[in-house]
Amino acid sequence: MKIVMLGAPGAGKGTQAKMIAEKYTIPHISTGDIFRANIKEGTPLGLEAKSYMDQGKLVPDELTVKILLDRVSKDDCKNGYVLDGFPRTIPQANVLKEALAKQNDKIDFAINVDVPDENIVRRMSGRRACVTCGATYHIEHVPPKTEGICDKCGSALILRDDDKPDTVLNRLKVYHDQTQPLIDFYNNEGILKEVDGTIDVKDVFESITKILG
Ligand code: AP5
Ligand code: MG
Repeated sequence: MKIVMLGAPGAGKGTQAKMIAEKYTIPHISTGDIFRANIKEGTPLGLEAKSYMDQGKLVPDELTVKILLDRVSKDDCKNGYVLDGFPRTIPQANVLKEALAKQNDKIDFAINVDVPDENIVRRMSGRRACVTCGATYHIEHVPPKTEGICDKCGSALILRDDDKPDTVLNRLKVYHDQTQPLIDFYNNEGILKEVDGTIDVKDVFESITKILG
């Protein structure tokens, strides 16, 4: 099963993608997590990506597409995957579609997690992320068992550099300009599914599992 998660920054794509990956035993692939891992390790890719991410801009398609296609060609992707944060532009969606078509394959579901802009800024300022394993929490809605510590790996939780309110507003603008058109793109492909992302995390997941079966 191949799934694409759509939604604004902070809509809960990562939260839901992790739960989907666990239930259906497929890898969770987040281009944002891949970039952040590279930033942490100080690789050339990380340095380049950081210059865009810190301003809330998109990393150029050419770079992002190469990384994603490398990742989905790995053995663990044979039975499918859930993509979180990719594609983010129409050109990225077209490259993915063409690469899959060459193998007589396609994306099965594009799930749009719908959350209005008003909720987003509030959500982002409360998010805490684990620098080591990428797990995400929210100080009110999804708190860790011990404040500031990751439940899964015991590392410190941080506020992401790009979660400052000004950067979040830029990310939202970029989302509306460049990523939202993917809703129509996947609707035209006949695989778009919408879920309400404003309800409780567990209830959002229940709507998704009803769709995926
Ligand atoms: P990326 O890491 O993908 O960030 P994003 O799309 O901005 O999305 P987020 O990770 O911020 O939000 P999310 O939807 O995963 O929400 P989450 O589950 O954490 O990308 C970062 C940057 O990398 C981009 O800006 C860009 O520069 C670059 N990049 C990445 N991919 C790229 C690409 N393909 N092309 C070009 N550039 C790319 O949830 C948010 C918070 O809300 C959490 O605190 C969570 O606990 C809480 N929450 C979740 N669900 C609920 C709920 N139902 N109720 C209450 N709280 C909830
Ligand atoms: Mg995320």
